[in-house]
Amino acid sequence: MGAEHTAFDVRAIREDFPILAQTVHGKPLVYLDNAATTQKPRSVIEAIDHFYAHDNSNIHRGLHALSERATRSYEDARSKVQRFINAAESAEIVFTRGTTEGINLVAGSYGRSHIGPGDEIVISAMEHHSNIVPWQILCEEKGARLRVAPINDAGEIVWKEYEELLGPRTRFVSVVHLSNALGTVNPVRRMIEAAHARNIPVLLDGAQAMAHMQVDVQDLDCDFYAFSSHKMYGPTGTGVLYGKRRLLEEMPPYQGGGDMISSVTFEKTTYNRLPYKFEAGTPHIAGVVGLGAAIDYLNALDRPAAAAYEHSLMVHAIETLSSVPGVRLIGTAREKSSVVSFALEGIHPHNVGSVLDQEGIAVRAGHHCTQPLMRRFGVPATTRVSPSFYNTLEEIEAVAKGLYKVIEMFR
Ligand SMILES: Cc1ncc(COP(=O)(O)O)c(C=O)c1O
Repeated sequence: MGAEHTAFDVRAIREDFPILAQTVHGKPLVYLDNAATTQKPRSVIEAIDHFYAHDNSNIHRGLHALSERATRSYEDARSKVQRFINAAESAEIVFTRGTTEGINLVAGSYGRSHIGPGDEIVISAMEHHSNIVPWQILCEEKGARLRVAPINDAGEIVWKEYEELLGPRTRFVSVVHLSNALGTVNPVRRMIEAAHARNIPVLLDGAQAMAHMQVDVQDLDCDFYAFSSHKMYGPTGTGVLYGKRRLLEEMPPYQGGGDMISSVTFEKTTYNRLPYKFEAGTPHIAGVVGLGAAIDYLNALDRPAAAAYEHSLMVHAIETLSSVPGVRLIGTAREKSSVVSFALEGIHPHNVGSVLDQEGIAVRAGHHCTQPLMRRFGVPATTRVSPSFYNTLEEIEAVAKGLYKVIEMFR
């Protein structure tokens, strides 16, 4: 099966990503660490460059031409995000630094004002540290309890146990849409339905899902959805928290400062309307403009074809890598996307990563910020291959070849 047999023209796509055309240690770069961060198409790089070269100014303040242009570009990006995830209105789109800040915002604002002693927050056993630690901090502060929905050996949430965890003290559910360490796609719609039947709001950690799936927040009916621009072909330092208006309205501010106020006296401050109430201080304006360009790029792609192509890369990775002696796949869920994690018997993933690096191959070797999950599978770390639509079947095969080199060196 060759890439040319798919409807997706990967050669043309690769031309859009200047970073891919380089050698590393004298070998053509094979970039398969997309779950950590994706590469940027030229249009995103140019949008940021254009912003600084022509429009740079602070937003929402100046009456001058540059400030108006910068404000327009920033707010246009908000509308693009709104349409991209099908939010009901752009006031529900809060710009953040990334997924981590989005989750901290919800824990720090909604959580601090709604969670009390003895209350329970439900997460799952496959969460990223970003979706564990903010809730632990909140639980410690409030005397609340963190409950963890277990997973089976394939890396799927055990439905019955999840449902049983939703009890009279449950006040919030926060789960990952697509796991960065396993590739599991959680049955989030059903999980949300079950929580809503008990009036429990749900946050989805969409850090990984946004690059691979078409997310419709109204269709999912999630209450919050957090994601990062840099994992969906946009720049670092920018992200989005979607929240339903009703909830955002009743939440206190997360940070105080410029832009989030309506008026300030030493006696009392009134807050700005949504979404500005949650955007204190000068934001990463160029980053948001870059995110807008990334959305334009994704919208111009044939996304179903891109998703089908990515699926074929994942299937090829599963088949090719699992045929290497000693490979144990970690994460074999039936619903799975774009992440292939594995352990290689008797060889530490760091050694795997270093040898592959010498071959010009970039993969992730580590705990992927999911230490409790690694413990669940009895491994200190895994090696993770995370393809994007700009990767090729040949690149996946290069990883398998690299693994044979690793085995030769370390066994
Ligand atoms: C599932 C998941 N959640 C949260 C995060 C945190 O994202 P960021 O570091 O962009 O805030 C990541 C990043 O790896 C992730 O994969």
